[in-house]
Amino acid sequence: MEKQEIRTFGRRHGKKLSARQNLLLEAVLPTIKPANLPLNTSMILEIGFGSGEHLREISRQMPDKIIIGAEPFMNGVASLLSAITDTNNSIRSEYKNIRIFPDDVRDFLHNTDSKFEQIWVLHPDPWPKARHEKRRLLNAEFLTLLSKHLTPNGEIIIGTDHWEYFDWIIEQVKHTTLTATIPDLATIHTRYQEKNKAGTTSPKYMVLTNS
Ligand SMILES: C[S@@+](CC[C@H](N)C(=O)[O-])C[C@H]1O[C@@H](n2cnc3c(N)ncnc32)[C@H](O)[C@@H]1O
Repeated sequence: MEKQEIRTFGRRHGKKLSARQNLLLEAVLPTIKPANLPLNTSMILEIGFGSGEHLREISRQMPDKIIIGAEPFMNGVASLLSAITDTNNSIRSEYKNIRIFPDDVRDFLHNTDSKFEQIWVLHPDPWPKARHEKRRLLNAEFLTLLSKHLTPNGEIIIGTDHWEYFDWIIEQVKHTTLTATIPDLATIHTRYQEKNKAGTTSPKYMVLTNS
């Protein structure tokens, strides 16, 4: 990281990993880090993929594109690795286009010139307490960083069921050169959203583009 940044995520480690998950982290993860990315292939980035349900879905939908996921929560990374490998611990053919950056996405973005057709951020940690507001990832500075990593027609797709955070992000966008539109997207499935089934709010989405 170029400067010490405020931490935007909670835990890096949760409950104890299985022996297989530890093996996958040691043996498979290093082989699918986003290094030496091709210049002539379209790429998609998902930030904070959790357990990777949505990441796997878009990987299957867009087999000709490279799908990069960034997630510092190692249990989530291990869950994704379990889901994309077979019993021989080889990456399943339908997931060969996935690359994983197992850390803070800002470390990745500060060290690459790569541009993305789509950047997804689904259910970013809302940090609802006022004293934690500085931990919100989608502030104007970060959105400006994302805008520099978009292809000419690229878009940033953000979804959250925390409507106050949604409005806060819209305010942050005003301090950038990005333009926000509110799409009529079908509900996008992620585990976080499932957990909140009994919650009172449904997700709202915005799409940000360079004007
Ligand atoms: C509330 S969870 C949502 C996970 C997933 N998108 C879903 O909808 O199930 C937010 C995720 O963002 C990740 N996160 C927070 N700050 C991040 C950062 N700077 N870089 C990458 N991921 C981050 C957290 O580790 C966490 O897994």
